[in-house]
Amino acid sequence: MRKPMVAGNWKMNGKSADNAALLEAVRGLGDECANVTVAVCPPFVYVPQARQALEGSGVAVGGQDCSDNDSGAFTGEVAAPMLADVGCEYVILGHSERRTLFGESDTQVAAKYRAAQRAGLKPILCVGETLEEREQDVTEEVVGRQLDAVIDAAGVASLEGAVIAYEPVWAIGTGRTATPEQAQTVHRFIRERVAAHDAGVAEGLVLLYGGSVKPDNAGELFGCDDIDGGLIGGASLKADAFGDICRAAERSRD
Ligand code: 13P
Repeated sequence: MRKPMVAGNWKMNGKSADNAALLEAVRGLGDECANVTVAVCPPFVYVPQARQALEGSGVAVGGQDCSDNDSGAFTGEVAAPMLADVGCEYVILGHSERRTLFGESDTQVAAKYRAAQRAGLKPILCVGETLEEREQDVTEEVVGRQLDAVIDAAGVASLEGAVIAYEPVWAIGTGRTATPEQAQTVHRFIRERVAAHDAGVAEGLVLLYGGSVKPDNAGELFGCDDIDGGLIGGASLKADAFGDICRAAERSRD
C-alpha cells in the first residue's frame, strides 16, 4: 500500500515571522497524520528555519528547484547537494511555473532530476498540460513526453518510489480544479506509461494531484485509486486549510 503524501509548495511567499506561526501549526501534523508523508517546500532562504522548526516532528522539508550542476560558477543557482546539506529530503522539479516563466525544457528538468538523485534528494517531478493543450486533446502526449524525458535520461529504475505531481496548468492558482475523474484519468495514464517499462515501479509511484486543492475538494480527489495525495500551493500558506487537507489524506486510506 502506498503511503499518501501532502506537500506544501509555498512558492515565493512568506517572511520569517509568518513562517514561524505556520510552521508551529504544521509541526503538529507529523503526529496527527502519521499515515501521511507531510512536507513543506519554502523558498530556499527559509529552508533552515523550516528544518529547525520541524525538527523531530516527522514533517519533511523540500526545496522548490535545484541546479542541474553540483557546484561551480552559476550565479544565483542552488545546488542539490546544498539542499541536502541544510536538511532537505525533497525537491520540486519541473514545476509549470519553472517550465513556462523560466523556460525550463524537458531535458533540463531531466538533468535536474538526475542531480537531485545524485545528492540523495527525492524529486517531486511535476508534469501537466496547459489549457490550450487540453483543448487540443493532447494532454497525454504532453504528460507522456515530460515523463519520457526523465525515463530516457535516468532510466525507469530512477522512478522507484518516486513522487510525481500531475498539475494541470489551467488549475494552478485559478480556483478551477480538475474534476476527480479528469485527474484520475491522467494519474492512471502516468502509472500505465511507467508500467509499460516496469510494473513494480509503477505500482510504487506516489502520484500527487496539484491545482487548486482545498479542504472541500481534497477528500474526493484523494479518494481516487491513483491519486496518492496532493501538491498544495495557496492553501499550504494557511495552517487550517493545510491541516484539513492533510487530514483528508489521512482519512483517504481508512
Ligand atoms: P494552487 O494550489 O495555488 O493552485 O497551486 C498548485 C501548485 O502549483 C502547487 O505546486
